[in-house]
Amino acid sequence: MIWKPLLAAQSRRPDGLIGRMFMGPYLDRANRRINSLVYDELSTRAGQRILEIGFGGGELLFRLAADLGAGRIDGVELSPTMIAAAARRARRLRGAVRVELHRGGVEALPFADASFERACSVHTVYFWSSLEDGLREISRVLKPGGRLVLGFSSAEALHDEGWAERGFKLYTPDQITAAALDLGFATTGLAQRARPGQGHVYALSAVRQ
Ligand SMILES: C[S@@+](CC[C@H](N)C(=O)[O-])C[C@H]1O[C@@H](n2cnc3c(N)ncnc32)[C@H](O)[C@@H]1O
Repeated sequence: MIWKPLLAAQSRRPDGLIGRMFMGPYLDRANRRINSLVYDELSTRAGQRILEIGFGGGELLFRLAADLGAGRIDGVELSPTMIAAAARRARRLRGAVRVELHRGGVEALPFADASFERACSVHTVYFWSSLEDGLREISRVLKPGGRLVLGFSSAEALHDEGWAERGFKLYTPDQITAAALDLGFATTGLAQRARPGQGHVYALSAVRQ
């Protein structure tokens, strides 16, 4: 399909006019369901410091900000286009929540050790340089007892849809669970929801020991 290479490139790093006008709103709409799964698993509380990695259009980031009441949410993104769009949205926020946006990737998170009570990332694991290095870096910035929730689609469905050919790295829940356990996380749950004709989406929870 002619649009697939473009969608793959824009999913990896939304950019330019297409990124701003199309990808942000598209990602927000398309990923509302998985964001809800991840949101529920995060079970945040007022006053916590929360990290989202690869927030894209910001649907989950700003839902967390709206509901947290008080606390601080840090968003990390590789895409300057998505950061600029989120910065405009953050300026309109009211209340005691602080939203801080940072340019960067999961490979080198710009935070001190043990900074966060919660971390989440949705549909980004396919683009990480290494699953293990990404999980290690998230573990570093989580406080002991802090929780990571990772949202992703089933490897079989993404494979059948042709995303592996476009360079997406696909993982099963078992592979991500095994990598998290190896790095000293305790995995605490796997929420899932069927997408009609498109496999499942997952929200995998892991607690830093
Ligand atoms: C498919 S989009 C998903 C966006 C959003 N989380 C959602 O589910 O709607 C992937 C996002 O992750 C970002 N990204 C890609 N590789 C990344 C990495 N290594 N570290 C952090 N973010 C990354 C991209 O810039 C893009 O905005």
